[in-house]
Amino acid sequence: MARVVSFRGVVLCWIVLVSFMATPAVAARKLSKGGHVISFAIRAWCIPRTESLLLEHEDRHECVYSMKNGDRAVGVGYDLDDDKETRRSELSTVLADYDKVYKGLQCLNTVQISALLALDTRRALDRAAKSVKALDEQCCSVMAVFGDIQHSSGKDAFEGNGFQDFIEAVSAKEWKKAGDKLNETSWCNDNKERCVSNKALIYQGCGGMKPAVITQVINQKP
Ligand SMILES: *[C@@H]1O[C@H](CO)[C@@H](O)[C@H](O)[C@H]1NC(C)=O
Repeated sequence: MARVVSFRGVVLCWIVLVSFMATPAVAARKLSKGGHVISFAIRAWCIPRTESLLLEHEDRHECVYSMKNGDRAVGVGYDLDDDKETRRSELSTVLADYDKVYKGLQCLNTVQISALLALDTRRALDRAAKSVKALDEQCCSVMAVFGDIQHSSGKDAFEGNGFQDFIEAVSAKEWKKAGDKLNETSWCNDNKERCVSNKALIYQGCGGMKPAVITQVINQKP
C-alpha cells in the first residue's frame, strides 16, 4: 500500500511540475507571434507567492463544502461549480472522481489538494491577466493580490465592481492611491479581512522588490 501511495505521489508531483513547465512552451509559441515570453515566465514565477496568499485566506478542506456564494468546492476554494468540464478533467488528472467528490463520497489527500491548488492558482492569474493589462509588469506580491481577488470572486472578477481606478493606479505604480482605491471597491467591503492584508501588500507596492532573477530576465528583453 505504501508503495502505491508513493507512486501516486510521484505521478502527482510530476503533474504539478508539468503544469509549471507548460508555461515556457506556451511562451515559446507566443514569442514567434509577438514576444510575450517574458510575461508568461514571470506569471509562472509568481504562482508560489499567490498560492501562499490564498492559503492565508482560505482553509483547506479534504471533503466537499459550500462556499459563501453557494458553489460546491473542495481543497483550497477549488470551485467545482465553475467551468465543470475543465474541473472534471483536472480531478481525473489527480486520480479523483468529480462526481464522487461532488457528492461527498470521496475526499482528497494533501498531494491532490496541492496539485489542484497549483492548477487553480494558475487559472486565477491567467483570468486576471485578461482584465488587467499591466499584470505581468508587477512583482509577485502585487500579482498575488490580483490572483487572490480573482480566486475569491470567480470569473469576470475585475469587470465592473469598481476596480477600474484601482487597476489604473497599479499600472501607474501609484501605490498609495492604489491601496486607497482598492479600499473603495465593493469587493473590499464584502471581504473585509482579506481586504486588510491585500491592501497592506498594495501599499507596499513593488518598489525595489523585484527578485534578481526577474530583473535579469527583463534585461534580456530584445
Ligand atoms: C477604507 O474604507 C472604509 C469603509 O469604506 C473606511 O471606513 C476607511 O476609512 C477606509 N480606509 C482607508 C485607509 O482609506
